[in-house]
Order: sequence, then structure tokens, then C-alpha cells
Amino acid sequence: MIIKLGVIFGGVSVEHEVSIITAIQAMNNIDSKKYDIIPIYISKDGTWYSGAMLKDIKIFSDMDLLKRYAKEVVLYKRDNEFVLQNKRGLLRKDITTLDLAFPIMHGTMGEDGTLQGYLETIGIPYCESDTYASVVGQDKVFMKQIWKDSDVPTVKFEWFFDTDYQRKPERIIKKLEHLKYPMIVKPARLGSSVGIKVCQNEEELRDAISDAINYDNKILVEEVVPNLLEVNISVLGNYQKQSLSVIEEVGSDNKLLTYEDKYIGGNKGPSKGMASAKRIIPARISEEMEKEINEIAVKAYRALNSSGVVRIDFLIDKKEKKIYANEINSIPGSLSFYLWNKTDKDYQELLDDILNLAIRNYKSKQNKIYSFDTNILSNYAKNSAKGIKGIKK
Ligand SMILES: Nc1ncnc2c1ncn2[C@@H]1O[C@H](COP(=O)(O)OP(=O)(O)O)[C@@H](O)[C@H]1O
Ligand SMILES: [Mg+2]
Repeated sequence: MIIKLGVIFGGVSVEHEVSIITAIQAMNNIDSKKYDIIPIYISKDGTWYSGAMLKDIKIFSDMDLLKRYAKEVVLYKRDNEFVLQNKRGLLRKDITTLDLAFPIMHGTMGEDGTLQGYLETIGIPYCESDTYASVVGQDKVFMKQIWKDSDVPTVKFEWFFDTDYQRKPERIIKKLEHLKYPMIVKPARLGSSVGIKVCQNEEELRDAISDAINYDNKILVEEVVPNLLEVNISVLGNYQKQSLSVIEEVGSDNKLLTYEDKYIGGNKGPSKGMASAKRIIPARISEEMEKEINEIAVKAYRALNSSGVVRIDFLIDKKEKKIYANEINSIPGSLSFYLWNKTDKDYQELLDDILNLAIRNYKSKQNKIYSFDTNILSNYAKNSAKGIKGIKK
């Protein structure tokens, strides 16, 4: 049986364009003998589109053309089917039904549990982490709180709400006093280094906070890791079983990885997404350190109850040989295929694993009990007034 797979991408996020690149790469590599791929693109204004032309990256440079030829769609459950339906036209024809959804989105409104919540609500099986794991994987504060509790080493941090700072800045500055400069200020739930600033003193700290507040109501402040080496690892699986990729070394010495470093790279040609950042694979670290990172990665993945493929990023103090888990990306750029290529699978095998895991997770979830038959409502109805408003007998 060929599986009808809706690949959902784009979305309302600063990482919209990167998501398009990741999704097109994936659609080009999914086994077409097993899967019938239906692209579903969410524009920056949140409109859902479908159409074969959305498998071609060129269409995204001309939104007018896209809007003219792609169909505006809605995805919903009708009887026992997941229907992708035309939103316009007199007949509002069904475009197709779907068996499985694959959100390939980065950042807000796609990787952060919101889309997952929608898919969960209509009941369609979907790939990658579920709503809960996606939410905690997007919120750097939740993530660190859970990791701290699970013995995953994290950098010393504090957090606060924007309005608490605006009302009583001195109180917040005092709360941050136990952290050592340089510090780094981050909006809790963005990504791609947007709104992130390093500060050397209190004046810079105040500036950085004022800036970060523009992006989120939750602000995270951490100590900066000195003698920095950044390495990433990809984990594939679910809470029961995990595989680990080779470890990559990224970025340049002691420099914050910027949006440009990550996605635009030095190459002038078409962007290759996350696969274009400067990287060395495998990372130049000792066997001992590699072992430690592997262990932390499994702990970090399980602590958040992640599923499918993720990338976990680490900060290492080279001098002190101290390792800190920095963040998880629950739908990583390029789905980390470039790491798995250098481990033990090509992109098609990786995608096949992700899709099979989604089906397995869905089946095991169906064995759990989610509702009970009770007579609370019928008892309530017996005792209340006769008849129901809006229904004439
Ligand atoms: N505590 C830290 N110490 C040193 N550098 C950091 C620290 N936190 C973040 N960075 C730098 O900033 C970059 C972006 O921060 P990160 O937390 O990964 O946010 P994003 O979600 O935007 O990728 C990292 O890749 C790293 O270069
Ligand atoms: Mg990062």
C-alpha cells in the first residue's frame, strides 16, 4: 500500500525560509515507491496551500504566482478520514485524503508544539516529537529546567518575564547578580540566534534585555562558556530506543553562530540550509569526551520524551573540558541528514526511519486509554430542565 504523506512546511516563524529548504530536500529524498507526497505549504500569514508545484523551490521566489496556482486548503477529520479540502470554489472539492503528516517546520508555530497540537486534535498520525516534547524543546527555559532535574549539565542561568523587568528592572538586575560576566541574553522561544546578545557589563546587559523583550515575554540569561567549542549530535528514535550520529564541530572560534553562519554560509550558490554551515565531521574531540557527549545526548533526549530525529547542541569549555547541553532542535535544519550520511544511513533511509517511527508511535499510543464511559452527563441531564435549547421536538 502506498502511504499518502502530507509534508507540512513554511509557517509563521523567523525560520520560514529555512523550513522551505529542509522540506524540499526531504521531499526530493522520500522513497516515492512507498509514499505519495502531498506538499502543504503554510505561508507567512498562516494560509495553507497545496499543489504539485510546491515541490519546486523556484515557486517560493514568486508568491503571486504561488497564490495563483496553488490551492488554498484545510486539513480536517471527516468520518474516519483526514481530508485535505479546497477552501475556495463553489464545490470545495476534496483534494486528497492523508494517511500521515510530516511537519517539517522550524521554530514558532510549527516546531513548538502548536501544529503538533492541531494534528493531535484531529487525530492524524504525524512524524517527529509530539506536542509535549515539542513545547519543551522550543522553550529554552523549560528545556533547561527539565535537564537540570535530569542530571543533564547546563550552563548557569536565570530567567524572568518582560513586564517584571519593565516594572522593576533593579530587582531583575539583582536576581542576575550571581551570574558572572560575560553573560548572554536570549528570548526563550525563538531560534536562529535572533535577539541573542553577549554582554560584558551591566550597561550592555540592560541593552540586551531591552532588545530581547521585543521578541518574547520570557527572557533567559546565561553565563557565557569561555574557550568555546560547539559540537552537535543527532539522535534518532523514541523514549525506548535511540541511535546516535557522529558528532560535528561547528562555527568559528569564540564567535556567536549567527543566522548567516548557519544558513547562508560562505557559498554564493543556492542555500543548502543547515547543511551549509561551517562544520567539521567528526568533531576533533577525545574519545572520552565523545563518550560523555553520547551519554548526555541520550539522557537529554529521553528527559524531554522526544521522538524521531533531533539535533542536540553542546557548548564545551575546551580548557576546563566541561561539557554543557545548550539546546535541542526537535525538527533540526536539514533533518541532520548530513550527520547520518556520515554515520550509517543515506537521506532516504533516515526519512524511512522517521516515517516508520511515526507509525509505530501512533500504534503504541492507540493502546493507551484516553477516555472513560461515565454517566455523569446523563445524570446531569435527568436532573436539569426538560428540552434542549435550539432543538424543537
Ligand atoms: N552560554 C553560552 N556561552 C557561549 N556561547 C553561547 C552560549 N549560548 C549561546 N551561545 C552562542 O550563541 C549561539 C546561539 O544560541 P542558541 O542558544 O543556540 O540559540 P538559537 O536557538 O538561536 O540557536 C550558539 O550557537 C553559540 O554560538
Ligand atoms: Mg542554536
